[in-house]
Amino acid sequence: LVWLSEIMLQQTTVAAVKDYFIKFVSRWPDISALAAAEREDVMRAWAGLGYYARARNLHACAQVVAARGRFPDTIEGLLELPGVGPYTAAAIGAIAFDFPVAAVDGNVERVVSRMFAIEEPLPQSKPRIRELAQGLVPSLRAGDFAQAMMDLGATICTPKAPACGNCPWTEDCVGRAAGIAATLPRKATKKAIPTRRGYVYWLERED
Ligand code: ADE
Repeated sequence: LVWLSEIMLQQTTVAAVKDYFIKFVSRWPDISALAAAEREDVMRAWAGLGYYARARNLHACAQVVAARGRFPDTIEGLLELPGVGPYTAAAIGAIAFDFPVAAVDGNVERVVSRMFAIEEPLPQSKPRIRELAQGLVPSLRAGDFAQAMMDLGATICTPKAPACGNCPWTEDCVGRAAGIAATLPRKATKKAIPTRRGYVYWLERED
């Protein structure tokens, strides 16, 4: 269940995923049922969630796990699964197995940048953010901690107007103390994406 929800939640919100999650677990109650499903049925059930490579990988991953008999229970093992990158491996590792690892997505990057008032812009600051996030992980209940960080980023430490008044961490937040929380994380200015123009031709005939 943790694996399915983490794959579904990549690049999107809990609100967008909720009904799909319920639909998938009702239709395919365990990973072997999902592995045995027709690819087309899985793709159809996924329709509307976007990033369709995730659905293909979900099905491929279910087949790998069903074939090996059980879910891998190490970060290295998780990383070998289709569709599971470093972030998702850490999220599954923390939430499903309570491994003391930090799962650092965009939300968590924002929380950590503010907490430590990191003014170096993204993406250069990523390694430092990762290190600082890892330093916060408690040895017990790492899964709850990971979930709490994600939820803090999604609901209170939001991008534009963080609700610092409702934040349980406000007293320790260096960004807040410095009055710069809302401006963090800074981002390196991106090179403008060039506009490419082209012509498209097609032929039509009577039939
Ligand atoms: N996005 C990715 N994983 C998530 C989780 N476990 N909770 C909320 N949002 C998430």
